Amino acid sequence: MKIIPEVKWKNLIEDLNNIRGVSMIIGATDSGKSSLLKYLLKELLRKNLVTSVIDSDVGQSSLGLPGTVSMRIFYNEHDFDKFTFEKMSFVGTINPAMNMSTIISITSKMTKICKENSDFVLIDTSGLISGEIGKNLKILKIKSIQPEHIIALQRENELENILNFVENIYVHRIPVSCMVKIRSREERILYRKIKLKDYFSNSKLNNFIVSKNSIICYYKKNSFIPKYADCLQGKLIGLNYNDETKALGIVDEIDDGSIIFTSPIDSLKNINKIIFGDMKI
Ligand SMILES: Nc1ncnc2c1ncn2[C@@H]1O[C@H](COP(=O)(O)OP(=O)(O)O)[C@@H](O)[C@H]1O
Ligand SMILES: [Mg+2]
Repeated sequence: MKIIPEVKWKNLIEDLNNIRGVSMIIGATDSGKSSLLKYLLKELLRKNLVTSVIDSDVGQSSLGLPGTVSMRIFYNEHDFDKFTFEKMSFVGTINPAMNMSTIISITSKMTKICKENSDFVLIDTSGLISGEIGKNLKILKIKSIQPEHIIALQRENELENILNFVENIYVHRIPVSCMVKIRSREERILYRKIKLKDYFSNSKLNNFIVSKNSIICYYKKNSFIPKYADCLQGKLIGLNYNDETKALGIVDEIDDGSIIFTSPIDSLKNINKIIFGDMKI
């Protein structure tokens, strides 16, 4: 869908270009964060500036897959059409409140990689901004990432309880575009389903049997041994080398000694962790 830029967006490009670095876009659900990010990305690439995108919106990721934090470095204008992730890290949930510390630490690590390799870093975030949880999530994220810019998309003053805590960062307050289309809960669920369906149906799937003794499994940062349980069938898992998820998988069965799953990955040679979560396909 075509993005119609607001007048203020054009000035924003100039402001960002004056002080390069990391920009975090915050705003409620359906405030136009991802659309503004795409606009900024296109304009920055047009100026021949290497620009990275990190998508930390685990519920409605536009760059990556549901339940993941993802990143890509865009080197030139032609890369704009490849708006998909290059690295991802599965966090096991679509609800940022359920695994806040992992989301923040992965986003920080990706920011470091992107900052070292590009002129600009644009970070997309979840729409969780209200209540104590939303406020804490955003404040902790800002403190951990220390962006140069915060782009605050608000309808009224819903972000001020977060922005009150911000010091020494350029804050750009941008009104929500009247072009924003509000999506229903059903549309959001469907969006996630389609993303995962495409991921698993776009490549050949392989079956794996892994001995529980040969790999460490994690659930919310803690290691654990998955037990036989029907409720694990159909669970999404992340096949990781350290923090990086090389591919997702779907659990077929867990028996006494092994984990049986399906994944588009070719080999488990470089996989040293399996990340479990709360998502089922
Ligand atoms: N400036 C714009 N021009 C056209 N459509 C827009 C614009 N801003 C947002 N939209 C539409 O509104 C919807 C929500 O915007 P999105 O950027 O996904 O919000 P958020 O990332 O904050 O949830 C999307 O369907 C998007 O295409
Ligand atoms: Mg979005």
